[in-house]
Amino acid sequence: MSERAKRGDPWAAIETHEVKSLAALFVAEPDRLSALSLDVAGVHFDWSKTHLDGELVGHFAALAEARDFAGAREALFSGAMVNASEGRAATHVAERGQGAPKDVARAAAQHQRMRSLVDAIEGGAFGEVHSLLHIGIGGSALGPELLLDALGRNLGGYGVSVLSNIDGQALDDAVDPLDPETALIVAVSKTFTTSETLLNLNSALRWMSESGIADPFGRVIAITADPGAALAFGVDETRILPFDEGVGGRYSLWSAAGFSAAVALGWQAFEELLEGAAAMDRHFRLAEPAANAPMIAAFADILYRQGFGAQSRAVFAYDERLRLLMPYLQQLEMESNGKSVAADGKPLNRPSAPVTWGGVGTDAQHAVFQLLHQGTDTIPVEFVAVVEQEDGQDPAHHRALLLNAFAQGAALMAGDASDDPYRACPGNRPSATILLDRLDPRTLGALIAFYEHRTFANAVLLGTNPFDQFGVELGKRLARELGEPQMIETFDPSTRSLVERARL
Ligand code: F6P
Repeated sequence: MSERAKRGDPWAAIETHEVKSLAALFVAEPDRLSALSLDVAGVHFDWSKTHLDGELVGHFAALAEARDFAGAREALFSGAMVNASEGRAATHVAERGQGAPKDVARAAAQHQRMRSLVDAIEGGAFGEVHSLLHIGIGGSALGPELLLDALGRNLGGYGVSVLSNIDGQALDDAVDPLDPETALIVAVSKTFTTSETLLNLNSALRWMSESGIADPFGRVIAITADPGAALAFGVDETRILPFDEGVGGRYSLWSAAGFSAAVALGWQAFEELLEGAAAMDRHFRLAEPAANAPMIAAFADILYRQGFGAQSRAVFAYDERLRLLMPYLQQLEMESNGKSVAADGKPLNRPSAPVTWGGVGTDAQHAVFQLLHQGTDTIPVEFVAVVEQEDGQDPAHHRALLLNAFAQGAALMAGDASDDPYRACPGNRPSATILLDRLDPRTLGALIAFYEHRTFANAVLLGTNPFDQFGVELGKRLARELGEPQMIETFDPSTRSLVERARL
């Protein structure tokens, strides 16, 4: 043990801990499967195939204590100002009824308005409605689209097109299946200033009026934390659904930002989603570190990023309905914790969040798994699968799907000690498995809340503020300036030449 570790520095204890191989850990700790597996709200978490061991979990618990993890977590749940750089609280837990009483009451009132509008659509207040054009980008699209794609199959009811990209082709593709006579536009933007969303909204309004809709604005529902901006844009206040400034874009699917999902999936499903998330909130808030799913996951994240130098982590959904989980997680994790400045404004002096990437199994096995099994880097892998089969096909499909997921984790860990160097796999490669009993609004709510809290836990342990995202602002400003003729000379020769070549 190093001197720093002996003096009780938990980082030093973690960094100098002698990490055993996964095979050795299973021998040394006969109870590690139960110690590193947890069941919360219909979701099973198995972190036993990671290099965490009892001692390391103890060191991480000490790190959490040294960083006043319990205080930071309580600050989140009590609506304190946890987002210091923007001077506000992070109130997404209140959307699930778990925050400070005043935030919970405000969220409940906003959900009530949301519900009235869902009822109004169902009751025919907008005439016949068959589809929604959901316009938004980043957190104003990824979360709602994940919900719709995961839970909205075979429901009949409403068709929803999600339009995020500024690319005109995306607009063409989004409106193509819609009948403007029976479509509503749901424009989601926390700030109501995002250029992609406003341009797409204007173009969608033009699409409606060119299709003969007399009052296109009358078919727009705007969802924002800045109702004044939506009003100024021209949306009637009866069709503006507000949400709280403290709800970050990537944490907003629980708020009115989830309106399209609430319409398409039904209000009851939306409420169940919130209940599932609330169950995870309670677990995260109350469970001891060693029995706390988001904390255990964050401990492993920190171990691999800081201790093993892993530059990325990979997530594979072994369920077609969860194919949008990975892009959702990319924003959640990389926008939240991809920072080189600590929450106190000082340099972070440690690697920040790894790159989150991945895909869908079994497809990914035949494309990217080669590198996971034999590449030179250690990349922690996460498998997400669902026990219950709900597709109407031969059970052989679901059985093979799950067997493949589990076999990949086993193969990564066991490797293959072949004498043939081309065929040998080193093994000892970490993976974690998340198994949902079934995919329904409650388990999906719990799963997404797990990821949110794991992201928060990583931030607290690292010392970052997971609720701001100033890094994306520079690109937005330069995109604006590049379009201004008087600014072009301020850009580098390569960029100027590209603008010229594209005849902009
Ligand atoms: O550009 C990043 C970002 O600010 C995200 O954080 C956010 O989810 C997205 O843009 C959309 O922002 P808004 O909801 O304000 O349109």
